Amino acid sequence: MGFLSPGSFGIKKSKRPDLDSSLKPKDRKMAHLAHIALYMLMFFIPITGYIMTSLHGYLSWFFIWELKPFLSESEAYKFWGLLHKYLLQYLIYFILGSHILGALKHQFIDKHTKELKRMVSEVTVYL
Ligand code: HEM
Ligand code: HEM
Repeated sequence: MGFLSPGSFGIKKSKRPDLDSSLKPKDRKMAHLAHIALYMLMFFIPITGYIMTSLHGYLSWFFIWELKPFLSESEAYKFWGLLHKYLLQYLIYFILGSHILGALKHQFIDKHTKELKRMVSEVTVYL
């Protein structure tokens, strides 16, 4: 996967700034847990969508590729639909909402101005 690294596109990534030293250990831990939860949701939301659709007997599209159902039809699609359409979605609305509000609070109220750069990073394109 080396060819996908930022360097191969002529992009130099800056060093990631450290978290503000005034952050309490409890807040660092909470932020870390929220990031793990976001990674898991980014993985499981599309997977549960594919499982739900397969169990219902429909095909799915992944960009231009047609994916046949990979499971035999079953009423279990209702359970996966509950996860895909409701539980995981409300969880991501809540966690992502808190993540964004928390980041904005650190930037504008606490004036920890380097924090946002931890997500966006500063890139220098040298083509
Ligand atoms: C990041 C990826 C995805 C997100 C954020 C997402 C989000 C959602 C949301 C919010 C709904 C509920 C919409 C509503 O009730 O009006 C939904 C429904 C649905 N999703 Fe996804 N989805 C994703 C990926 C997928 C994938 C990969 C598939 C299938 C391979 C899929 C299949 C479906 C289907 C068929 C429905 C309609 C279910 C029904 O109304 O019975 N989704 N999705
Ligand atoms: C307005 C939108 C957003 C803002 C202002 C924002 C802000 C930030 C900030 C400041 C960090 C660094 C926090 C830290 O390292 O302690 C961060 C990390 C992160 N953000 Fe966001 N974010 C936004 C949207 C999103 C979205 C849409 C997702 C994905 C669904 C996301 C997922 C993550 C993850 C997974 C990390 C942790 C990265 C790592 O350290 O591995 N963020 N975000």
